[in-house]
Amino acid sequence: MTDTPKNSDLMPDIHTRVTQALTHIFLQISSRTDLKPTLGIILGSGLGGFASQVENAVVIPYSEIPNFPRSTVEGHEGKLVIGTISGVPVAVMQGRVHAYEGYSMSEVTFPMRVLGMLGCKALIVTNAAGGINKSYAQGGLVCISDHINLTGQNAAIGSNDARFAIRPGAGLRFFDMTTAYSPRLRKLAAEEAAKQNIPLPEGVYLAVLGPSYETAAEIRAFRTLGADLVGMSTVHEVIIARHMGVEVLGLSLVTNMAAGVLDQPIHHAEVMETGLRVEAQFTSLVKALVPQVSAAVA
Ligand code: HPA
Repeated sequence: MTDTPKNSDLMPDIHTRVTQALTHIFLQISSRTDLKPTLGIILGSGLGGFASQVENAVVIPYSEIPNFPRSTVEGHEGKLVIGTISGVPVAVMQGRVHAYEGYSMSEVTFPMRVLGMLGCKALIVTNAAGGINKSYAQGGLVCISDHINLTGQNAAIGSNDARFAIRPGAGLRFFDMTTAYSPRLRKLAAEEAAKQNIPLPEGVYLAVLGPSYETAAEIRAFRTLGADLVGMSTVHEVIIARHMGVEVLGLSLVTNMAAGVLDQPIHHAEVMETGLRVEAQFTSLVKALVPQVSAAVA
């Protein structure tokens, strides 16, 4: 008797699926020889408007890219925007998918793998986060110095595929996370923010699965653990970026103070509104950082 094939036997491996996505993307940008993205940008909730900064953009809906996951959350557009910012070729993900939508770790990090294999040596990853640190204010930006992954999942689980390494020494089974958030890119961000008079404290981002927001007791516990920010994304993308050898700059927008910090409930609408309110500041900072980050990793 023959065995019925398992799903995993029928499904091509992640590298093959990423290659299929890349083939589609390269076809879309094939007439644009200037477009070899070296910098990837992932836009978090309420920050998708930044994609309008991309010049001469080729816009590819996620729904058209083979194997690309589709966002089901309001505020996440679902488009890959490839073009230039200040002359730097960039690939901007307007919207991401999250584990709480029911996506597996390999689906959540699929776009990150595509960005890396497209040629992005650096990633600017952004998100909406709750502020645990009481010195933060709603609407403030924070540069992520480190993370605590409390999602109970790790996107690098599975057979190690060294073909995803974009730099010598990357693609290892066990890889370093001590400087996951690049010290030299954080320094550039701090200097640019100071120049623009934008407060940019550093903070530790703690990731939970969601989709429920946290309880007040959880936030007190997370503060004791050393967390300044809480959110439901980013850490998995950063893990995969570091596996590939991509250098990471992480920026959080404090869309709300975390549960129990203020005497009020948290609403997703608030998260979105805050994004729109600070869009100009966020845009000005990130836009100025694009050529600097690109030059640093060249
Ligand atoms: N908790 C978790 N994720 C979030 C929050 C929060 O308070 N705000 C924005 N994303």
